[in-house]
Amino acid sequence: MQAVILVGGEGTRLRPLTSTVPKPVVPLVDRPFIAYMLEWLRRHGVDDVVMSCGFLAAGVRNVLGDGAAYGIQLRYVEEPRPLGTGGAVKFAESLLDERFLMLNGDVLTDLDLSAQVAQHEASGARGTLALIGVEDPSAYGLVRLRDDSSVREFLEKPSPDQIDTNLISAGAYVLERDVLDLIPSGQACSIEREVFPRLVGDGLYGFVGDGYWLDIGTPDRYLQATFDILERNVQTAAGERLGAGFLAVDAGAESQGRTIPPALVGPGCRIGAGARIGALAVLAPDVSVGPRTEIEQSVVLRGADVGADCRLSYCIVGAGARIGDRTHVEGGAVLGEGVSIGADNVIAAGARIFPGVTLPDGAISF
Ligand code: GDD
Ligand code: MG
Repeated sequence: MQAVILVGGEGTRLRPLTSTVPKPVVPLVDRPFIAYMLEWLRRHGVDDVVMSCGFLAAGVRNVLGDGAAYGIQLRYVEEPRPLGTGGAVKFAESLLDERFLMLNGDVLTDLDLSAQVAQHEASGARGTLALIGVEDPSAYGLVRLRDDSSVREFLEKPSPDQIDTNLISAGAYVLERDVLDLIPSGQACSIEREVFPRLVGDGLYGFVGDGYWLDIGTPDRYLQATFDILERNVQTAAGERLGAGFLAVDAGAESQGRTIPPALVGPGCRIGAGARIGALAVLAPDVSVGPRTEIEQSVVLRGADVGADCRLSYCIVGAGARIGDRTHVEGGAVLGEGVSIGADNVIAAGARIFPGVTLPDGAISF
């Protein structure tokens, strides 16, 4: 089975994490985000994936290579300019089979793709959309279904008065190749706004999935995805690594502190005396944590250096960042790659600090 994954968005809402790294390869727990999608696809028999890239495509290719590590043949297609979701899949047309999966590349899920494909075949559909129930459908594609599972209406980003169901499109479609005939070549086109509405009544079906589903487009959702992997609320290989104890401290880490599950500590980490890591903390490889520092509900990326007596709570610290002694980072703050924060600062309230920024000692407390 073949899949095309759209990874051409700029990931603006995840900045500054995506200021230096393309969104698909932003690390999540212990592997690049897109690895979760590849592992999920592999479990459902997909062995051929076309990556539809835009922004920083070489960065994606450098990390994922030819896919051998995932047991998948990976090919890359780069649009000359962003063509939108419809334009992007049309641009990849020459590589696509008679039937293929199309996936938004920013979703963490363990939805049953095999059952979706089976329903697609049984119904003779031209397109079958995976659907999932969410509390607030306004940021998604709302889907109204008929009793026979055919789509009655597809409404991208519905306004509040249009919301009368909680079912949204999960960004995973089974498509017959002839659907591409509805998309003009070489032009920007949104499959959600321009193609799905035209397929309503003409072979568009919905598959109501269950299981875990999350669009990881914002720092809050990135943290939620991290916690759900650590808590094993979603079926992932990374979660399985934590085992029954919900804890993985790499043998190559040196700790004089305490680790409280669920937590993951990567190779080469050094944790000082009296420090407390967890619950719900990830230290990527080569992170250094000073004595008595507490880190909970947070992600600290590769090579970051956190001083002594710090407190990190519900935050993301970018690769190679440095945090001085006694500094607090909390409340959804995100520090970009290589940021340097002096001692005695308080970074909170959703602050986002961009790569290249250096803050002196005692500069902020908001
Ligand atoms: N190659 C390419 N080119 N990819 C693109 C482009 C483009 O021009 N534009 C967006 N993408 C990719 C993004 O990287 C992302 O993986 C996917 O297409 C969807 O784009 P988003 O920008 O994340 O859309 P959204 O989250 O607002 O809405 C979409 O996803 C929802 C589910 O998460 C829609 O498909 C909704 O209908 C759906 O409910
Ligand atoms: Mg999205």
